[in-house]
Amino acid sequence: MSKLKFFSPISEEMRIVEDQLSQNIDSNIEILNEASLHLIKAGGKRLRPAFTLLSARLFTKDLNDVIPIAVALELIHMASLVHDDVIDNSDTRRGSATVRSAWGNRVSIYAGDYILARALSMAAKYQRRDIVDVLADTSMKICEGEVIQMLSCYNVTLGLKNYLRRIERKTALLISVSCQLGAMVVNASQQSVKAVKDYGYYLGMAFQVTDDILDIISDEQVLGKPTGSDIRQGVITLPALYALNHSPHGAELARLLSSPESCADQTDRIINMIVDSEGIDYAYYITRHYARKAQQQLKYLPDVAVKKNLYNMADFILARDF
Ligand code: IPE
Ligand code: IPE
Ligand code: MG
Ligand code: MG
Repeated sequence: MSKLKFFSPISEEMRIVEDQLSQNIDSNIEILNEASLHLIKAGGKRLRPAFTLLSARLFTKDLNDVIPIAVALELIHMASLVHDDVIDNSDTRRGSATVRSAWGNRVSIYAGDYILARALSMAAKYQRRDIVDVLADTSMKICEGEVIQMLSCYNVTLGLKNYLRRIERKTALLISVSCQLGAMVVNASQQSVKAVKDYGYYLGMAFQVTDDILDIISDEQVLGKPTGSDIRQGVITLPALYALNHSPHGAELARLLSSPESCADQTDRIINMIVDSEGIDYAYYITRHYARKAQQQLKYLPDVAVKKNLYNMADFILARDF
């Protein structure tokens, strides 16, 4: 279970979330059970359920009703990870073997679908059309984000707008919705729901830009998943975009990034070119911008203690190394 210090006001609820995660993927089909449990046991930060609970705590103390939706959000996230590791051909996730490397692609596809279906079934129990609508729309958008990314690989002519659109869909919206649903379940006002949703959106953008930075500069052991993976696959992220436009070796970099062979064989050289161009500093500048925007949304929300945790969470997302 994640032990991030920002979770202290919701630590009891997070413990229940943890128990319910395993309970809600149980299947009589042993292989589905094992594959899903494996990912839960491997850990993870549990940020999405934490955002849901912290957002709801802005409005109420009793979070019993919020726990099932918090569990559903982590399950949707997990389902997307199981599929993402198939797409990205990754062998490690959360410091353990991926479902893909342990059970293969076919089991991963079924396990991801199964986990997603279980999540939607939990959400349906609220018998609220608005909740199901939000989750269905987000699940579609995650898929669109991943497809835009796939179609954009090795294409050095696409700019910032394409990058922002794909990270918004594949990552920021689920984080935004995690906050939004916490407020919706406890029937916060429309204005408050919008403020937490916007907070989550900006934080989600900062989160994925940081993920993209870490893919380039982090230590694989600390990160718990492969590094250099974006470059190897021709996924052009913000630091690379900056380098393409600002490095004196931009033309050479464009040639390398457009070729699947050089992305695979010359990954280290490409990484050095990006780092030398100050693309990492620029990307950090952008994450700080998004994190500040997230923090600004908090002024529209009730002045209760948990607000400080949401504020600090934005700083954590900037500074994280895992
Ligand atoms: C990984 O998300 C996938 C992205 C959206 C970047 P997290 O970094 O939250 O993954 P876990 O849940 O902690 O493993
Ligand atoms: C993953 O993006 C986003 C989703 C899971 C939808 P990445 O491919 O960057 O995530 P990691 O780096 O593998 O966790
Ligand atoms: Mg991936
Ligand atoms: Mg990544």
